[in-house]
Amino acid sequence: MKYILVISYSQSGQLTDLLSNLVSTIKEEIEYVSVQPKTKFSFPWISHEFFNAMPETVLEKEIELNAIEFKRDKYDLIIFGYQPWFLSPSLPATAILKNEAFKKIMNNTRIVTVIGARNMWLNSQESVKQLIKDADGVLVGNIPFVDHNPNLLSAISILHWMLTGKKERKYGIFPLPGISDKDILEASLFGLIIQKSFDNNEFDHIQEQVILSNRVNINTNILFIESRAKKLFSIWARQIIKKGTTPLKRKAWVVLFKYYLLIALFIIAPIVLLVFNIFVRPFSHNRITKKKTYFYSVELIKK
Ligand SMILES: Cc1cc2nc3c(=O)[nH]c(=O)nc-3n(C[C@H](O)[C@H](O)[C@H](O)COP(=O)(O)O)c2cc1C
Repeated sequence: MKYILVISYSQSGQLTDLLSNLVSTIKEEIEYVSVQPKTKFSFPWISHEFFNAMPETVLEKEIELNAIEFKRDKYDLIIFGYQPWFLSPSLPATAILKNEAFKKIMNNTRIVTVIGARNMWLNSQESVKQLIKDADGVLVGNIPFVDHNPNLLSAISILHWMLTGKKERKYGIFPLPGISDKDILEASLFGLIIQKSFDNNEFDHIQEQVILSNRVNINTNILFIESRAKKLFSIWARQIIKKGTTPLKRKAWVVLFKYYLLIALFIIAPIVLLVFNIFVRPFSHNRITKKKTYFYSVELIKK
């Protein structure tokens, strides 16, 4: 019998559902660890708290978690489930990866990451790759799940979900927020890939199989947005921490960031994307393919 550790944090339960369906087709011994921050993030979110989480998330600050207990010292595979927040691993996800006990467990152990995102996970996965590498873990697969609805519609619907706690169509007309029920159900197919690796005792091709499943697709417009937005978030994060020295000042800076983000997302990004699609994309096929090939892989290019 092989031992698998499934470790994650989920606010709404979406990621928990994904993970439990995913491992439902694995026959090995599975231990679940569900992590909770010492100070819980409220769900539904209060609007200000939602945007106020950005600076610490983007700067990958470590928050305190409730004590994590593992039954074993060593596992044959770790399945690490996480969600991106502001193009970075969520605060609880970063804290899990920086937790000393978990770092010991990651050491020299194969890891598969499972992401429950809206649609932007490329930058967060780069951070996760680095944190896994720092602990001498061995990333062998990455299985991202996203909301396939158009970017702006999914942004509106996810905000509705996060701020009301209701996974329902906003005004009855917007698409259902989050990852589709079908994708959540069919996560079990990825468990078969993992089980096959155990049966053949061969783990080098997990990621190849994940990509061959044709269920992971990087959207070119999202790739374009992500390659620029993280740098801007980092500048805002540092600025808010530097200038937000009193609660009142912090609040003012976060409000400024909130309006910046809404304008960037709903006004600037569509214009820039239009220009990109007309003048740049037709001549950048090779560069875009190369970038996507990298993000589809589990490799890490250190910047
Ligand atoms: C504060 C916050 C920021 C988020 N930022 C992103 C993001 O940058 N990219 C993305 O794809 N999803 C983002 N999401 C969506 C989450 O990744 C996730 O899909 C959603 O919160 C549901 O996860 P859960 O299983 O924890 O409930 C964000 C969610 C929250 C609460």
